Amino acid sequence: MDRTAQLTARRAARAIAYDPPPAAGSLHVSAARVLEGNWRGTSTVPSRSLYPHQWSWDSAFIAIGLRHVSPLRAQTELETLLAAQWGDGRVPHIVFNPSVPLDAYFPSPDFWRSSTAGRAAGAPRTVQTSGIVQPPVHALAAWLVHRADPGLSHARGFLARVYPRLAAWHRYLLHRRDLGGGGLAAVVHPWEQGMDNSPCWDAPLARITPAPARSFRRADLDHGAPEDRPTDLDYGRYVRLATDYRDRGYADGTDEGAARRASVEGGGGRREGEFAVEDPAFNALLAASEHALARIAEELGATGTARHARAERLTAALVERLWDPAQGMFFCRDVRGGNLIPERSVSGLIPLLLPGLPRDITAALVGTLTGPHFGLGATTRLVPSYDLLGEAFDPHRYWRGPAWFNTGWLVERGLRAHGERERADALRSAILHTAEATGFAEYVDPYTGEACGAAGFSWTAALTLDLLHESPGHPAQGVSPTGLGTFDRSDKGGDRG
Ligand code: SER
Repeated sequence: MDRTAQLTARRAARAIAYDPPPAAGSLHVSAARVLEGNWRGTSTVPSRSLYPHQWSWDSAFIAIGLRHVSPLRAQTELETLLAAQWGDGRVPHIVFNPSVPLDAYFPSPDFWRSSTAGRAAGAPRTVQTSGIVQPPVHALAAWLVHRADPGLSHARGFLARVYPRLAAWHRYLLHRRDLGGGGLAAVVHPWEQGMDNSPCWDAPLARITPAPARSFRRADLDHGAPEDRPTDLDYGRYVRLATDYRDRGYADGTDEGAARRASVEGGGGRREGEFAVEDPAFNALLAASEHALARIAEELGATGTARHARAERLTAALVERLWDPAQGMFFCRDVRGGNLIPERSVSGLIPLLLPGLPRDITAALVGTLTGPHFGLGATTRLVPSYDLLGEAFDPHRYWRGPAWFNTGWLVERGLRAHGERERADALRSAILHTAEATGFAEYVDPYTGEACGAAGFSWTAALTLDLLHESPGHPAQGVSPTGLGTFDRSDKGGDRG
C-alpha cells in the first residue's frame, strides 16, 4: 500500500466522535499524584526517568496546573527557576540538581560548564545550569499562579520578587536575541524552541557539522524507545551547536561586550552562531507573557501601558515576518538564509492564543487546524505536532508528528479565546481522555492516542488539572484586550483582563 492509501485506510478505521470528558474526581486525584511524585522539594522534574532535573518551560506549565492543588508550591516552582537566572537576564533551560549522578542525563553540568564558560554572561556561581533558554511562558505562569491565591501571593511578596527577574528575562530576549533585527526573538538551538527534532529545523541544521557520535553518550536512550526519540545524527548536531555556543562564552549575536570578554578569556571571540531561527510559538508566548507582565506591573501599582504596547508590537511583528496568507498559518524564519521555512508545525498555529490577531488570520488558522494538514475533529482528536501530509511526518518520533499536551492546551486556549467554543470543548475532552488513558504520557500518536515517550509526565498532569478546573461549555469570553482572562481558571476568578 502506498503512503496515501495507508493514510486513507487509517482514517477510515477511526470514527472521530465527541465523547463527554471523563469524571473529574478520580482524574484530579491521579494527576495530583503524578505532580506529588515528581516534586523534589523546591521544584518538579518533568519525568522521573528521562528528565531528572528542573526544565524551564516545563516548570512554567507545571506551575499553571500546580496552582490548583498547592499555590505555595506553584510559587516556589517559579522562584526556584528564577533564582538560577543569569546576570544578562537569560533563564536557563535546565537547572541541575546536584544530587543526581552526572550520567543520569546528557548533556550534564560538566558539558555546559555554566559557572566558568558562562561567567562573562553572569551565570550563577552556586548552581549549575545549561546555557540556552526555552520558550518564555513564565510571566504568564506567574500571573496565573498569583490569581489562584492572591492573598498568599501578597503575603509572600511573590509578584514583587519575581517581577524584576521576569522583566530582565524579557529584556534579554527582546534586545540580545533580536538577531533578525525585525523585533522578534530568535532561538540559537532547537532545544531552545522546545520542539527539538521538528522538521522545521532540518534545513537550517543541515548546515551544521555533527559532533562525532563517539564524543558523547546519550542518556535518553536508557529510558526512551529509540524510535520515539531524535536520531543520533540530530544529537550530533545539537551537541555541536551547544559546544560552539559554550566555547564563545554564551555570547549572543547582538552582545558585543560579552563576545569581547569571551575572546579575552579564550572563548575564541566568534559571536555568530550558525543556527538562528524566529519561531511563531516562541514569539507568541513572549507576547502573551508581555501582556501578563503588564498585568503584574499594574497589580504592583505601576503602569502596564508600555508593556501592553510592546506585546501588540510583537504581535504585529509576528504577522509581518512569519504569517503566510496563502498557506493560512505562521512559519519559522531562518535568520541566516532570510527565508520562511516551508514546513507546517503546530508552532505555526499557536499564535491563535493572541487576542490582538486580525480576524481574518484567526479564521484562517482555525481552517488550517481543522483542514487536512492537522485534521482536528476530522482525522485527529488531538493536535499533531507536524503536518499529517508532510514528507517527514512520523506519528511516534518526538516532535515530528505526535500530539503533545502543552501545545494542545495552548490551542484549546486559543480556540476558546476566539469564540470557537464547541471545538475547544471537544479538544479539552480529548486531552482529558487521552491523559487518563495513557497514564499522563509525554506525547501520543495523533491518530490512535497510543502513548509515546515517558509516562507520568508532569506537564501532562498539570495541564490536565488546569483543564479540569473549567466546566465543559464554559462560555467564550470574547476577545479580551490582553487575552489573559481566557487563561484564568482560578477559583478566586473575577478578573477577566
Ligand atoms: N528536550 C531535550 C531533551 O530531550 C533538551 O531539553 O533532553
